Amino acid sequence: MTETDALKLFSFQLFSKLEGAVTAGMVHLGDQLGLYVAMNKAGRPVTTHEIAATTGLSERWVREWAQNQAAAKLITSSFDENDGERRFGLTPEAAAVLATPSHPYYGMGMFHRLPQTMNALEHVRESFHTGVGHDYDSHGPQGAVGIERSFEPWNNANLLPVVLPALTGVVERLRAGVTVVDIGCGAGSAVLLMAAEFPASKFLGYDISQFALARAAEKLDESGLRNASFHDPRTSPIAADHSVDLVTTFDCIHDMTQPQRMMETIRAAIKPDGVWLLVDIKALDSFEENARKNPMAALMYGISVLSCMSSALSEPDGEGLGTLGLSESKARSMATAAGFTRFRRLDIDHAVNAFYEIRP
Ligand SMILES: C[S@@+](CC[C@H](N)C(=O)[O-])C[C@H]1O[C@@H](n2cnc3c(N)ncnc32)[C@H](O)[C@@H]1O
Repeated sequence: MTETDALKLFSFQLFSKLEGAVTAGMVHLGDQLGLYVAMNKAGRPVTTHEIAATTGLSERWVREWAQNQAAAKLITSSFDENDGERRFGLTPEAAAVLATPSHPYYGMGMFHRLPQTMNALEHVRESFHTGVGHDYDSHGPQGAVGIERSFEPWNNANLLPVVLPALTGVVERLRAGVTVVDIGCGAGSAVLLMAAEFPASKFLGYDISQFALARAAEKLDESGLRNASFHDPRTSPIAADHSVDLVTTFDCIHDMTQPQRMMETIRAAIKPDGVWLLVDIKALDSFEENARKNPMAALMYGISVLSCMSSALSEPDGEGLGTLGLSESKARSMATAAGFTRFRRLDIDHAVNAFYEIRP
């Protein structure tokens, strides 16, 4: 390869990242403007005039957007010689991931919060100097909705039929009526799902994000459930009297400034025969392993700077684990240090998460 070829290749590699970033912005628009939903509702490839008519948007803008999406191979495009029209469509996979909120593979959550995530570039420049990051509320109310939309689809499809039954004896206890605490509960999706399924049990969600707690309160109100509540642990501390039967933490321990202290809090909350369900990112022990085995490693290290590690360093003494900071061995040694003695990885298939049953 000549020097010029190598330069061209590197430049292509670099600008393909910018193409990804800009196309991700177009995916955000497709979601927010209802373009994917409109295409899916049509049930067949449609012209941009048809999309514009059903969405009430300007055809010229819809056309440029659709050309980006088709060039990126996210939607299909075909030109009909007979009527001289180009039509854009969704494959069944695109319809599931882009336009079906009830599908477990629905993927619009991270794109929902893309502007807030990218806006963090403005704040974290300073963090590189000070070392101090920003908590989840720095992403505003839509940041919390984006997190909710990111995790809800898979949980809605799998939490009750797959995850809870994988824990020894937990479903029976939930049916009989026990106390459950979900820490880092976000907008409360898991709490509300479990509270509706197990009316004899009591569910308490804890989070430090005021935007997430406000969203959880709104959803609780809509649900009419009486066996769930949401709290800020800084004003309403988590029980420390070994009274909780099940503690759950979904994708949040690596975001916390003091994860070790949180594990000690969980140990103090849990009954001697209680269970902690730890769900966290499927990380490996070293950068080399993550970079080699995880095709999304670059995305995850970037999200860590903008969101997860920033949150985990949002206080000056934060541990700063970050998105890929809680591997199985790290989780095991931290849980052991917090006083847990039993640690079992569950056999549950998930694109980014690992699941552990941890007991005193
Ligand atoms: C990635 S979100 C996950 C939210 C939720 N579990 C879900 O699956 O949708 C991480 C959450 O952890 C919360 N968090 C961070 N530090 C916390 C702490 N010390 N105590 C409680 N929640 C915390 C954040 O505010 C954020 O809502």
